[in-house]
Amino acid sequence: MSFHDAANYPVELQVNGEKQFIRVRAADILLYTLRDKLGLTGCKPGCDNGDCGACTILLDGFPMKSCLMLTVEAAGKQLITIEGLKNSSVQYAFARNQAFQCGYCTPGFIMNCQGLLNAEPDAGQETIRLWLESNICRCTSYEEIHQVVMDVFKLKNEG
Ligand code: FES
Ligand code: FES
Repeated sequence: MSFHDAANYPVELQVNGEKQFIRVRAADILLYTLRDKLGLTGCKPGCDNGDCGACTILLDGFPMKSCLMLTVEAAGKQLITIEGLKNSSVQYAFARNQAFQCGYCTPGFIMNCQGLLNAEPDAGQETIRLWLESNICRCTSYEEIHQVVMDVFKLKNEG
């Protein structure tokens, strides 16, 4: 094992309401710490570059692309992954309306939409449209996703 492989830094994370004490390398990315060290595989690797949104979690209530953050930067923040989302109207709406095909992008979309609901519960159509631009669905089920979010925000979908 090289020096750079060594997990040298003790970090305390708050994930889904629980304290997690782990050791990480300075360069470890939050997405892979959540998946590989904590078994929270709901956040998905996609582009690893901040473009697709598949890795989205909530950081102090706001959406964060976990592929863009070092694990050590998350210390002291409240992290919520899709596994920790409880009784979310967004989650129920996606399930009720079957707003997915393969489902790979779905956790990221749900976390992003939950973040919008937290930040702007009265968001209008334009805000929703802009907010959803940060996530990509390769199965092109955008229409269903848009419909679901309109449903959550109790807005009439005018296309
Ligand atoms: S994997 Fe993080 S935005 Fe694509
Ligand atoms: S449902 Fe397959 S990528 Fe979105």
